Amino acid sequence: MAATSRKLRQVLIFFVLLGFCLEGVAEPRRYSVVEETESRSFVTNLVNDLGLGPRELSRRGARVISRGNKLHLHLDLETGDLFLNEKLDREDLCGHSEPCVLRFQVMLNSPLDIFQAELQVIDINDHSPVFPDKDIVLKISEGSLPGITFPLKNAQDMDVGRNSIDNYLISSNSYFHVLTRKSSDGRKYPQLVLDKALDREEQAELRLVLTAQDGGSPPRSGTAEVYIEVVDINDNVPQFEQLVYRAQIPEDSPLGFLIVAVSATDKDMGSNGEISYSLFQASDEISKTFSVHARTGEIRLKNQLDFEKAQSYEVNVEAKDTGSFSGKCTLLVQVLDVNDHAPEVTMSALISFIPENANKTMVAVFSVSDLDSGENGKTICTIQDDLPFFLKSSVENFYTLLTEKPLDRESRDEYNITITVSDMGTPRLKTEHNITVQVSDVNDNAPAFSQTSYTLLVPENNSPGLHIGTVSATDTDSGTNAQITYSLLPPQEGDQDPQLALASLLSIHADSGQLVDLGGAGTLSQSYHYEVCLMGDSGTSEFKFLKPILPNFQGHSLPEV
Ligand SMILES: *[C@@H]1O[C@H](CO)[C@@H](O)[C@H](O)[C@H]1NC(C)=O
Ligand SMILES: *[C@@H]1O[C@H](CO)[C@@H](O)[C@H](O)[C@H]1NC(C)=O
Ligand SMILES: *[C@@H]1O[C@H](CO)[C@@H](O)[C@H](O)[C@H]1NC(C)=O
Repeated sequence: MAATSRKLRQVLIFFVLLGFCLEGVAEPRRYSVVEETESRSFVTNLVNDLGLGPRELSRRGARVISRGNKLHLHLDLETGDLFLNEKLDREDLCGHSEPCVLRFQVMLNSPLDIFQAELQVIDINDHSPVFPDKDIVLKISEGSLPGITFPLKNAQDMDVGRNSIDNYLISSNSYFHVLTRKSSDGRKYPQLVLDKALDREEQAELRLVLTAQDGGSPPRSGTAEVYIEVVDINDNVPQFEQLVYRAQIPEDSPLGFLIVAVSATDKDMGSNGEISYSLFQASDEISKTFSVHARTGEIRLKNQLDFEKAQSYEVNVEAKDTGSFSGKCTLLVQVLDVNDHAPEVTMSALISFIPENANKTMVAVFSVSDLDSGENGKTICTIQDDLPFFLKSSVENFYTLLTEKPLDRESRDEYNITITVSDMGTPRLKTEHNITVQVSDVNDNAPAFSQTSYTLLVPENNSPGLHIGTVSATDTDSGTNAQITYSLLPPQEGDQDPQLALASLLSIHADSGQLVDLGGAGTLSQSYHYEVCLMGDSGTSEFKFLKPILPNFQGHSLPEV
């Protein structure tokens, strides 16, 4: 019964309460505070708000109740002033939900009254936008077309409403601008837009500052660094440092000789910028003579040069990157003459036998040549200067070798003539050509007896055929010109006793010069002198052999021969 009446009373109280504060239940009293205001900040005066009498609050034991007692409010029971008991952080209380409304009740006893109330915590801009990643890395191909967009990660702001992120800005640059976009959940995110084509070769990277700004007053902002790496595409042609290279190389340069190293660069990077060198449109002759190293660009000699064959070369070199781009240059090679050819002597005519006693006789005709050019090909021709010969130059490069004076075989019958031809190059090259000239004999020398007179003794009454002596003569000529024949001179008219004709007393052997008594000489009681005639050489000259011999001894003797 008691329980029933109490229950009834409670229902009544409820209805009284309902009747008393019907408006209040339907329409809670609304208050607001700005977050982060100091504790003890004034919220409202409940005495005025609830239309209570003075001290009613304390009399009726008024209490402020919030769910979970989260809300720390302090009610001054004397004055009815409601204060914050602590600083409120909207973000802590409500996070991102807005509005941030905290419900509380004011409860009065006797009779029981419960007033519903709401405290709205109003956001202030106490948080700055923050990017979760402070560094944003983007790789963008330099081939990207203007207008292309790149979404970027948004920043976060704990504040809500207009205090949350409002827009994004990017540091000033000529390639990008940033748009502020709104995602389906209402959050704003930045989008990078390419305004102008990138060029890695001009600028390989960009560092931009992305700023997120909220709509607070004053606004707060947060930044992140956007690092943009421009990704290479093969958009550059290899370029040679020089379009024309020049080199002068001596024709005797060894094989493998480094002529020049050409060099090209490609602004692209990595494999797009890798260059390989090769000869370009090379003739057989060029590719046989020169080689180019694909990687280093070194151009080397592959074959021996010959100035006499080619004085210059034009070598075209190509530099190719891994794509299809290529650049070209030209190497002009000038071959320098080296004195690598000795002069040559070509005999046109050579007379090996020169007659003696002849005036200016031609000995030889020859020509001189040198394959080198310039000074290297100029020649000088000489012979020994102690020889009776001289050189006369006739038409270009032709020389005649002549005797300077009549030669005498008997003093020298052979000459070794060295024709020396040297060129004017450095070093001097010379050629020797030896010729031997024989002087042929002319019968220009008379035979001569070894003594001007001979005295021969003949015993008297000797038998005929006795060999009584030998006379001897020589001839300096040679060959038949030197063959000597001996004979006696015929007696001179009126000169001698006819009975003593020499021919009847003596005979001479034509070849050996032996004198033989014919049997008469020994009978002579007196000595006589005779002239003996000798046929010298080949009978061309005749010489008196003896002057008359004085009869200077007693007894029989042969007239001296
Ligand atoms: C050599 O020349 C001289 C003078 O020029 C001349 O008298 C002589 O007859 C010449 N001899 C010969 C063999 O020609
Ligand atoms: C000439 O040369 C030959 C061979 O070299 C040599 O036998 C000869 O003696 C030389 N004659 C003279 C006159 O020098
Ligand atoms: C020519 O003769 C000279 C002197 O006799 C000698 O020294 C030289 O070697 C010879 N030259 C030739 C090519 O025979």
